[in-house]
Amino acid sequence: MMQARNRFLLLVVGGAAALAILSLSIQFFNLMPSVPGLDDRQYQPVEGGPVMGKSRKRVFPVLRSHTEEPEPVSEAYGYCNMPNRSEQAWEGHSPADYRLLSVQVMIRHGDRYPLYSIPKTKRPNIDCTLSVNRQHSHPLLTGFISHMGRGGRGHWDSPLSSVPRLPNHSSCEIGELTQTGVVQHLRNGQLLREAYRHHNLLPPDWAPRQVWIETTGKSRTLQSGLAFLYGLLPDFDWTKLTVRHQWSTLFCSGACDCPARNKYLDEEQRRQYRLRVANNELERTYAEMARTLGLPTRQLRAANPIDSLLCHLCHGIPFPCVPPSDGGTGGCLTMTQFAVIRKQQLDDEVDRRRVGLYRKYAVLAMYPYLNRTASKMERVARASETGRPARPGGEEVFSLSSAHDVTVAPLLSALGLERLSFPRFAARVVFELWKSPPSAQPKRKGSKGGKGGEKARDGEVFIRVLYNGEDVTFHTTFCRSHNRHGSQPLCPLGNFLSYVRRDMFSVVDATSYQEACYRRPG
Ligand SMILES: *[C@@H]1O[C@H](CO)[C@@H](O)[C@H](O)[C@H]1NC(C)=O
Ligand SMILES: *[C@@H]1O[C@H](CO)[C@@H](O)[C@H](O)[C@H]1NC(C)=O
Ligand SMILES: *[C@@H]1O[C@H](CO)[C@@H](O)[C@H](O)[C@H]1NC(C)=O
Repeated sequence: MMQARNRFLLLVVGGAAALAILSLSIQFFNLMPSVPGLDDRQYQPVEGGPVMGKSRKRVFPVLRSHTEEPEPVSEAYGYCNMPNRSEQAWEGHSPADYRLLSVQVMIRHGDRYPLYSIPKTKRPNIDCTLSVNRQHSHPLLTGFISHMGRGGRGHWDSPLSSVPRLPNHSSCEIGELTQTGVVQHLRNGQLLREAYRHHNLLPPDWAPRQVWIETTGKSRTLQSGLAFLYGLLPDFDWTKLTVRHQWSTLFCSGACDCPARNKYLDEEQRRQYRLRVANNELERTYAEMARTLGLPTRQLRAANPIDSLLCHLCHGIPFPCVPPSDGGTGGCLTMTQFAVIRKQQLDDEVDRRRVGLYRKYAVLAMYPYLNRTASKMERVARASETGRPARPGGEEVFSLSSAHDVTVAPLLSALGLERLSFPRFAARVVFELWKSPPSAQPKRKGSKGGKGGEKARDGEVFIRVLYNGEDVTFHTTFCRSHNRHGSQPLCPLGNFLSYVRRDMFSVVDATSYQEACYRRPG
């Protein structure tokens, strides 16, 4: 046991060092299975066991050659996203004189307590109250706590008003956001505050219409969203804020009905199940863990031990040990076992991309969110042209959707960013809308407002997409072939609009959401 602990510490230290050096190349990890009614109501158990999580994904293999073994343990540290590393943030970067018109962000909630527990073991002992004396703290934490105490002044969609605005259990509840999770999002918000400081995105006296925040009804997403917002706009005026509720983890508002989406998901889950049961090393590992604990293998697998082990890893708590017992040999769960399960998840990720069913699911799952995103951008762009908002009170210039891995993962897939790492805790996807300076060039064909030739042409609008601070615009399906070294160094908004409204559906052989969702199987 002592030996296991030393080995663990060694891995912790080694892992952190590796992260510091390879910050771009780390492959993050994923993992969270799907618990109907917990993280994702879309996922259903398959054949008696919970579906194993989607696996993690690879950051663009910039520094890593294909021949290198993925290293499941250091990836797991990337997944933890411990908030004491310095982070890249390429948000807010543009050619000189471009104007930032709007920013839309989707986040995954921060670090949370496990959704599962491993039978016969002690649950990890983590305190979910907030304290500046705890290991990962933040200068804004005290202000955040007292600001949340005044949350009654805000407007809340009805199911949200009864959700606690702070984690506050001395022994964390299932799925509860930890202080680490709060700090991760205070940092995210603060990073964007810095990134946009000089772009005047929101005036100091922003109007209620200009800020949109939406969340699922889980406390961890609500609290994550508020921490992010507080980092971005410390001491924001509660009376101007309305917090919206999304009942579906897909953030699909009024357009959630799509029978074909569920069909693709079922097929994808069957693929995942087949791959898992064909993996002998994985089966042996589960059997070995079950023997240690004295459990039927099925029961251990159903308890999804990786979720709990990850929490141990992220919090520096040694893996659980049990004494010998009725049927159990006793001993500790090991890092080797952890690595086998993680490795299988990495393999699953590769297989998932190869087969392509998940992409089809993802396009249908994320269309409603992307359609809303596209429409908001279009409205803001139009308002910038005419100089007046289409709606009284101004357009939304900042939107935040506080979501789950089962939201962010399909979003990445639908954008063609499947090779990126699986969404770690507090992952962020940022859509920026930019406008180039007016130009006095002679009008080009297709350009608007060119009356009289001499008149300055209104600037054009562009989109940037960032994932965890990295600019991934030119890896998206809609801008992969754009020549950014040509006359337009950014990706035209039009590429995104036609992708979302039509081209995206080509992977399901359709040209619209309606058609793709309701077509009879043929
Ligand atoms: C971050 O914190 C972990 C423990 O939570 C520690 O092992 C690691 O060395 C720290 N990393 C840095 C860069 O401070
Ligand atoms: C947390 O809970 C304790 C005990 O229930 C309570 O006294 C305290 O005011 C709560 N703190 C916050 C910030 O809600
Ligand atoms: C897409 O957005 C447009 C414009 O906001 C809206 O009219 C349309 O109903 C949306 N379509 C779906 C299926 O959500």
